[in-house]
Amino acid sequence: MGEGVLTTGFQRRNGELRCDDVSLRSIAAAVGTPSYVYSAAAVRDAYGRLETALAGLPAHIHYAMKANSNLAVLRVLRACGAGVDVVSSGELHRALLAGFSGSQIVFAGVGKTRAELEHALHVGVQCVNVESEAELELLSHVAIARGAIVPVSLRINPGVANVTAGHAYIATGEAGSKFGIPLARGLKAAARADALPGIELVGLDMHIGSQIADVEAFADAQRRLRGLLDGVRAAGITTIRSVDVGGGFPVAYHDAEPTADLDGFARVLRDTFGDADVALIVEPGRFLVAEAGVLLTEVLYRKESAPKHFMVVDAGMNDLLRPSHYAAYHEIEPVFESAAPLQVVDVVGPVCESGDFLALNRSMPDVGAGTLLAVRNAGAYGYVMSSTYNSRPRPAEVLVEGDRWAIVALRESQDDMVRLERIAPDWRSA
Ligand code: LLP
Repeated sequence: MGEGVLTTGFQRRNGELRCDDVSLRSIAAAVGTPSYVYSAAAVRDAYGRLETALAGLPAHIHYAMKANSNLAVLRVLRACGAGVDVVSSGELHRALLAGFSGSQIVFAGVGKTRAELEHALHVGVQCVNVESEAELELLSHVAIARGAIVPVSLRINPGVANVTAGHAYIATGEAGSKFGIPLARGLKAAARADALPGIELVGLDMHIGSQIADVEAFADAQRRLRGLLDGVRAAGITTIRSVDVGGGFPVAYHDAEPTADLDGFARVLRDTFGDADVALIVEPGRFLVAEAGVLLTEVLYRKESAPKHFMVVDAGMNDLLRPSHYAAYHEIEPVFESAAPLQVVDVVGPVCESGDFLALNRSMPDVGAGTLLAVRNAGAYGYVMSSTYNSRPRPAEVLVEGDRWAIVALRESQDDMVRLERIAPDWRSA
C-alpha cells in the first residue's frame, strides 16, 4: 500500500468532497446536519495497512471500540477479522450485538465494577485486563462465586515519559498515571495473580498513550514489559501466553504531523518479542477509524466582533468535543471547493460556552451562511464523546459503502432526550 496515498474515503471530484462514490451534499440534504459520515472502505483500508505491517508476527488486532462504537462500524471491523477491546459493560453489550464472540473480546478499564466483572465472566471474554491489585482480589472472588477460572492479563504501567504527540490527557503510561500497575510491582502482582484461586494469569498488557509517533517510545516501553515477562517466567510462573502492546498509532490531523510508522512498529515488536513465545495483541482505536469519518456541518451565520471574524456553524462542542477539550486541530473544508478569498476565522458552535469552537484563528475560504463544511478526521472520538449539552440532540451517523449509504444511527429526537426523565416523580418514603 503506497504511503500516504489513500484511495478510499474522502476525495474531491469536480470540486466536490465526496465519501467514496457518494456525494456528501446528497447525504446532508437527506439527513441534515450536523451528521457524521464514515467510509467503510477507509476503515477496511486502515485495517489492511496494519494487518500487512504485522504479517509474519503472531499478532492480532483488537479494535479499541472506545474510538467509535457504532454497531455498523463494529461490524465492518469484525468482518475484517478484528477482535475488540472493551472498557465497560456497555461496550461489551455493543460488541456482542455486533456479533463478536466472548473469545474475541478483551475487557480493559481502570474502574470495572463487580457487575462489569460478572458480565465479563458470563460472556467468557478472552481475558480481563486487570489494572490494580485490588481489582485482582475482587475478580478472584467473583470467579470463585461462579465456580469459574478467569483468564487475566495484568496491565502494567511501564512508567515512560509522556510520549504522545498531543495533549497530556491522552498519555496513559507515565509514572503517576491512574492506569495499570506500576512496573516495579509487576512481579509481585503476577505472583499474587498466580496464587489466587479463580484466576489464570495468561497475559501482560500495557498502553502508553494515544498518538504515539516515535517508534523508539514503543521500543522503550516494550523492552520494559519484556523484562517483566522474563522476570515472571524466571520466578516460575509459566502460564503467560499473550502480551498486549498498546499505545495508539498516530493520525495526522495536520499535514505537518507524522503518520504512523507501522513497519517501524512491527520491527520493534519483532525485535522485542520475536523470541518470547507469546501471542501479541495490538489495540488501536483512532488509527482504524479517524480518517474514515467527517462531521458535516452547515454555516449558520457569519459575524464580526473586532478583531474576530466568526463562522457560526450548526455543530458544537456537544457534537465534537476534541477541539475544545484537547485543543485538537481538525481540518475544516467547504464540501464544495470555494474560490472565496481566505479569511482568518474562529469556527464556533451554537453552545453557550466560550469554549465551544471547532477551530480558532483558522485561515479558511470566506464562505457564507448555508455553506456545507466537512470537519475531517472525525471518525475517532467524535460521536462517542458527544453529549446533549444545551439539550442539543446528538447527530446522525451515516455509513458509506461504495456508492451506497445508510443511516447507522438516527439523529436523536427531542423526545429521546427527555425519555428517561420523570416530570411527575415516583416519590418513595425514606
Ligand atoms: N487501549 C487503551 C487501554 C486505551 O486507553 C486507549 C485509548 C486505546 C487502546 C486506544 O488508543 P488509540 O489507538 O485510539 O490511540 N479521547 C481522546 C483519546 C483518548 C484515548 C484514551 N485511550 C482523543 O480524542 O484524542
